[in-house]
Amino acid sequence: MKPLLLAIETSCDETAVAILCGRQVLASEIASQIAAHQPYGGVVPEVASRHHLQHAPKLLEHAVAEAGVSLGEVDAFAATSGPGLASSLIIGTSLAKGLALGFGKPYLAVNHLEGHLLSPFFEGDDEIEPNVALIVSGGHTLLVEVNDLADYQILGHTVDDAAGEAFDKVAKMLGLAYPGGPEIERVAQGGDPTRFDLPRSMLNSGDANFSFSGLKTAVRYLLPKLARSSEVDRDLCASFQRAVIDVLVGKTIAAAQTAGANLVTVSGGVSCNRELCEQMSLGCKRAGLGLRFAVPRLCTDNAVMIAFAALLHLERGETTPLTKEIDPNLALA
Ligand code: KG4
Ligand code: ZN
Repeated sequence: MKPLLLAIETSCDETAVAILCGRQVLASEIASQIAAHQPYGGVVPEVASRHHLQHAPKLLEHAVAEAGVSLGEVDAFAATSGPGLASSLIIGTSLAKGLALGFGKPYLAVNHLEGHLLSPFFEGDDEIEPNVALIVSGGHTLLVEVNDLADYQILGHTVDDAAGEAFDKVAKMLGLAYPGGPEIERVAQGGDPTRFDLPRSMLNSGDANFSFSGLKTAVRYLLPKLARSSEVDRDLCASFQRAVIDVLVGKTIAAAQTAGANLVTVSGGVSCNRELCEQMSLGCKRAGLGLRFAVPRLCTDNAVMIAFAALLHLERGETTPLTKEIDPNLALA
């Protein structure tokens, strides 16, 4: 019998609940808080935790109804225990722990980054293959050598802003809505990515680290010199987007070649970006590397990826004691 798993994700600004039967999704509920944070141009922790508290119990009810199961039938309860906002993580983990305790079932604490990292393997019944993983989201930009489940080595990370954060901050400068990634991608459509010469910081640094704050600053200094028009905005967004992507693709392929990997995986919110998909596909093809992306609905924060990571650990007989605390700075390795 395939295990029935319920997972809760509340690490940042999405409240999500998913129920899996093995790898089959029985329910996936997400309450986005984007509208609540939009006036501030970013996530406000206090607002986020209030929303999680309001929405998590309702989403739980909806998920159980959608899946057509009762909570008593669930075999294990999982939640994201870090990294993320402390006041948000505490809500999902407390709920999952309470359910595990109440129904006498195991609890599994899941690392949010491991959820992203494993998400490209969710579709099908594929095993986790060794790969070099690019996790690229609003909070993180990481390159990881993945040998097997839970056998990870961090190759590099951003030394300042995450790539998604750079998209969000540049979008804010241009007066675009939060979250900025999809907005910049929309405005950039049909634009000339070579019109503005923007920096590709650390592209040839010889290590696997990233830096995006110089690029953001370059846009800030360039903006007052421009006579803004829809064409200028379009080309500026296309140039900025291409600068981020050139660095992500160049460094990921270099890291995969150095690690001797055959496969690259890409996950996290920024991997929704179609231009990134195209450029990464071209780059991997040229380098003779295989490539797997998470499907778009699993790129941005969701509870299916958390349930999937929990499932793989549960299948190895691993569970988490209820005394395990949240860790806002939880590391992947
Ligand atoms: O994975 P995610 O939902 O949350 C974190 O764990 O951070 O990622 C959200 C980030 C935001 O910065 C958002 O602007 C970015 O992903 N993003 C995109 C796109 N869609 C979402 N960035 C570029 N292009 C997109 N299409
Ligand atoms: Zn995330």
